[in-house]
Amino acid sequence: MKSLSELLDIRAKLIKDNQESESRTINDDDCAFLYNFIKLHAVTTAVEIGTWLGTSAMIMAECGVEVWTCDQHKMFTYKHPKIHYYNMWSTAFLKKLKKDKLKFDMAFLDGRLMNEDVKRMVKLLNSKASILTHDYMGNAKGVRNFKSLKKYIGEIEVHGVIGVTCLKK
Ligand SMILES: C[S@@+](CC[C@H](N)C(=O)[O-])C[C@H]1O[C@@H](n2cnc3c(N)ncnc32)[C@H](O)[C@@H]1O
Repeated sequence: MKSLSELLDIRAKLIKDNQESESRTINDDDCAFLYNFIKLHAVTTAVEIGTWLGTSAMIMAECGVEVWTCDQHKMFTYKHPKIHYYNMWSTAFLKKLKKDKLKFDMAFLDGRLMNEDVKRMVKLLNSKASILTHDYMGNAKGVRNFKSLKKYIGEIEVHGVIGVTCLKK
């Protein structure tokens, strides 16, 4: 398995190759958090909303996680056998995952869930699954996703709803 420092180098290369700004993809601290979280919680499968460049998907996959991820934009270029990327909105994506009878240990939410997505997302999670809501600050999407999800958390035994704070400089 690659070291965190090797993964941060891949992140830097993704940004450079795509001539993108640092701020739209998860930062180095978030990468470290995700890397350690996956190891601590022995995550094997994850669903992600908001692929963009694919830094977060790359970290998860390189840590051995099988990742299903979607984005309405086509910015994703990082090929990895464990990354299942869908260029679509979350609503169609979550319906597809349900139809395919997939279940997940973790959700990494870096896009805004639509109202109709919220319950569907929770139902896709295994018991003791974790939900990470990125951009957890002020009224940003992480906080709004967290608030929407909280209503349904009682329905399954979710291990924790974690807001990953991401302070963009
Ligand atoms: C901050 S970027 C994600 C960064 C990515 N996690 C990374 O590490 O490179 C947020 C992305 O979420 C996508 N997005 C937001 N809401 C979405 C939704 N409901 N369905 C699909 N994509 C969505 C946007 O198109 C955008 O590309």
